[in-house]
Amino acid sequence: MPFLVLWPFTLICKLVEDSMPFPKRSPDVVVNCAALSVPRACEADPAATMSINVPSTLLEWLSAFKEANTLLIHLSTDQVYEGVKSFYKEDDETIPVNVYGKSKVAAEQFISKNWSNFAILRSSIIFGPQTISPVPKSLPIQWIDGVLSRGDKAEFFHDEFRCPVYVKDVVTIIQALTSRWISGWLLIVSCFT
Ligand SMILES: NC(=O)c1ccc[n+]([C@@H]2O[C@H](COP(=O)([O-])OP(=O)(O)OC[C@H]3O[C@@H](n4cnc5c(N)ncnc54)[C@H](OP(=O)(O)O)[C@@H]3O)[C@@H](O)[C@H]2O)c1
Repeated sequence: MPFLVLWPFTLICKLVEDSMPFPKRSPDVVVNCAALSVPRACEADPAATMSINVPSTLLEWLSAFKEANTLLIHLSTDQVYEGVKSFYKEDDETIPVNVYGKSKVAAEQFISKNWSNFAILRSSIIFGPQTISPVPKSLPIQWIDGVLSRGDKAEFFHDEFRCPVYVKDVVTIIQALTSRWISGWLLIVSCFT
């Protein structure tokens, strides 16, 4: 019977809080969404970015289970690519141009070397409705809405190809991977009609 636990975890130095009991068996699936994910913040502190975004502590924790065959679903980014063309494929060369992208490539390489059962999801900008709980990071649609409704001017990128993906599509993909136990690299984008 699958079980779902939200486990407090710090990715830099500690596996779990000392006071917390170690789970009796390995989780069936871990979805790793934790990251330092704001590119500007990553540029300001490359060392912290690497230690947070490369999930070495998480894998150390998973490896501690005797019969660990957990499916690790790891959220990566389209910023692993150089960004000089559109419609990248999973097997295109990764040439990250910023610290965030470099840390995500390092994470992908670390996972593929150290864990056999994984799915890496490379997505572009994830958008969706306002979150139920507030999040510190500004959300794309809500940010655009705020700028337009205030009548402010906004600087937009004009030199990037991006394929935004709807957050519920990301969830559907994760559910499908979980139920069908699919692993490997996947580039995920929304289909707009
Ligand atoms: N949002 C996008 O458009 C987008 C696009 C492509 C890929 N991704 C990837 O998708 C994942 C989720 O993105 P997001 O936008 O939801 O990011 P986010 O809003 O920045 O959330 C990141 C999460 O990581 C946690 N975290 C940060 N440092 C940690 C640490 N040292 N130990 C444990 N947890 C830590 C944060 O916890 P606290 O809240 O407690 O600080 C937060 O819950 C990330 O891997 C990101 O790279 C996102």
